[in-house]
Amino acid sequence: MDEEGDKVPQRIMLGIESSCDDTSIAVLRGSQFVAQFTAAQHIHAKYGGVVPEFASRAHQRHILPVLHGVLEQAGLTLDDLDGVAYTRGPGLHGSLLVGSAFARSLAWSRSLPLWPVHHMRAHVLAHWISDANPPSGPMMALTVSGGHTQLVDVRSPWDLVVVGTTLDDAAGEAFDKVAKMIGLPYPGGPHVDRLAKEGNPEAFAFAAPRMDGLDFSFSGLKTSVLRTLERDGREAMEREGWQADVCASLQQTIVEMLVSRLEQAADQYGRTAIAIQGGVSANSGLRNAVQELGERRGWSVHIPPFKYCTDNGAMIAMAGQFAAMKGAEGALSDGPRPRWPMVSDQT
Ligand code: KG4
Ligand code: ZN
Repeated sequence: MDEEGDKVPQRIMLGIESSCDDTSIAVLRGSQFVAQFTAAQHIHAKYGGVVPEFASRAHQRHILPVLHGVLEQAGLTLDDLDGVAYTRGPGLHGSLLVGSAFARSLAWSRSLPLWPVHHMRAHVLAHWISDANPPSGPMMALTVSGGHTQLVDVRSPWDLVVVGTTLDDAAGEAFDKVAKMIGLPYPGGPHVDRLAKEGNPEAFAFAAPRMDGLDFSFSGLKTSVLRTLERDGREAMEREGWQADVCASLQQTIVEMLVSRLEQAADQYGRTAIAIQGGVSANSGLRNAVQELGERRGWSVHIPPFKYCTDNGAMIAMAGQFAAMKGAEGALSDGPRPRWPMVSDQT
């Protein structure tokens, strides 16, 4: 399957991501990374979560400077572009509106082809960017982000089949909600990761659900942390390093839940390559555990560089390249799709 990556025509593709709280634009030449510029939004930290209205206003302010920034980094002008890819969904409606209106206006004004992209597919397709160790055959891929947890059987860049999903919260939400409970800033995932390194993962026994099949559930884990903290909270919280212990125990539980399902899914579908992607794939505990799983089973492991883990324009540009290869051009009249199911034969 690496040939698909090699065969990506050398189009210069702009990728525009604005589905949540990062405005990110990147340029790829074929599957080669050229440049990426991202403006994160810090205003949400104050509210402990993304405030959709503030997010869309910030995208509006950031999007033009981000475009100028990435073109400058790439040493290119608008005249050099061969196509515009953008996130059409799923995501926050107001945020998607800004990126999609911007992309459609740009494509119309420069007479460029327009490639609407499914955000969750793009997380998976990020593996084909040439400095991300592209896969050479089918693989079982786990997407873990703030809004989604999905096991995806990757048969080709155009044939992605969701074989497991979360029944309630996403893995990133579990990190963020527990982080909030113990007083860490939003988004909590990276703080949990950092503190977990100093804590004892055996300090707390948080209950993970027992479920058959390939789906996930994280809401019970959140309740289990809450109950544990209520029960031994006062005593525990007087102990130095209690927060680090909660983080280490939480991270270990979530990582075990994710990695055991990934192994089970790969076995079930006969895959000998595994991958993780999405914001939570930046987690050091998860990266190590997936690496160990690969070594133990003799499977090849695909973990993207950090710049392709959290929301980024490069993955949108890569998905745009595959959409262009399939000829799945979008229309200027396409509106955003905030709730866009992922089905196997879309681009
Ligand atoms: O993919 P992403 O940037 O946005 C969505 O599409 O949701 O993922 C964001 C999520 C947040 O929940 C954030 O806390 C989590 O990824 N995250 C992490 C780490 N870095 C980001 N979670 C655990 N450990 C990390 N190092
Ligand atoms: Zn994402």
